[in-house]
Amino acid sequence: MEIAGKVAVITGASSGIGRTCARSLAAAGASILVADLDEDGGSETVDSIVSKGGTAQFVRTDVSCLEDLATMFAAAEERFGGFDILCNNAGIVCGEPLWPATDPELLMTQVMVNLGGVILGTRLAIEPLRARGGGVVVNTASLAALLPLEDEPGYSATKAGVVMFTRACGALQRTHNIRVNAVLPWLVDTPLLGKSGDGSTEAPWARQARQILPVLDPADVAGAVMEIIEDDSLAGHYRIVGELPDFVTEMI
Ligand SMILES: NC(=O)c1ccc[n+]([C@@H]2O[C@H](COP(=O)([O-])OP(=O)(O)OC[C@H]3O[C@@H](n4cnc5c(N)ncnc54)[C@H](O)[C@@H]3O)[C@@H](O)[C@H]2O)c1
Repeated sequence: MEIAGKVAVITGASSGIGRTCARSLAAAGASILVADLDEDGGSETVDSIVSKGGTAQFVRTDVSCLEDLATMFAAAEERFGGFDILCNNAGIVCGEPLWPATDPELLMTQVMVNLGGVILGTRLAIEPLRARGGGVVVNTASLAALLPLEDEPGYSATKAGVVMFTRACGALQRTHNIRVNAVLPWLVDTPLLGKSGDGSTEAPWARQARQILPVLDPADVAGAVMEIIEDDSLAGHYRIVGELPDFVTEMI
C-alpha cells in the first residue's frame, strides 16, 4: 500500500512508539487520527505533525473500552471520511510490585488494553476497512511474546496473544483484502521503560535487559511498521524489530 494520501488511526500515539509512527506516517503523506487516553500528549503529537504541514487530529480513546473504540472509528469517518491503516499500538506494563505481587485489577486492565484492545480494535475495523476496499492493521506486540518475561508474565502472555491473533487473522487478506501483521520490538527507548519499575525508575529486569541487547530507537519500530504497510505480500506476518545476538535467537 502506498502511504501517501491514506488515513491512519494509531492508538497509543500520545507517546513513544505510537507518536513516532504517527509522525513518520504523516511525513510520508498520511492523515493521522491520534487515539490515546492522554490528551496533553495527544495534542503534542498533533501539533508536531501540523507544524510540519501534516494533517492530524486527536480523539480521546481508552482501547480497553468497546464504546471508546467505536467512537474512535466514528471520529475517523467524520473527520477524514474513513481510514486505511490501523495501528493497534497502545500497551502497558504493570510495573512494581512485580509478579506475583501484581495488583489483580491492574492485571485485568493490562489484559484488556494489550490484548482486548487489539482484538476488538481489529474486529471493529473490518467493516470500515472493507468499505474502503481493504486496508492494513499493524499490531504492536513485543519480543516478550517469544521470550518469557518472568517479572511481567501478564505482559508476555498478552503479547503472545497478539502474535497468535495476528497469525490467525492472516486469512482476512483473502476474504476482505485486509492485511493484519505485527511488530515485535525488543526494548525501545520510550517512557514505558520508566513505568516498568516504581513509576520513576526502571525495573531490574529492564536494566538487566539493557546489558543483553542495545535499546532500540522508536524510529526503528516506525520504520518496520512503514515497511509492513507498504509490502502488499505480508499478512499474518510478525516481525522481530532489531538484530538479535545468536544466543537470544536460540532461546526463542
Ligand atoms: N518501549 C518498549 O521497550 C517496548 C518494547 C516492545 C513493545 N512495546 C510496545 O509498544 C507499544 C507502545 O509502547 P511505548 O513504548 O511507546 O510506551 P509509552 O508508554 O511511551 O506509550 C504508550 C501509550 O499508550 C497509551 N495508553 C495506555 N493505555 C491506554 C489505553 N487504555 N487506551 C489508549 N491509550 C493508552 C499511553 O497513554 C501512552 O501514550 C506498547 O504496546 C508496548 O507494549 C514497547
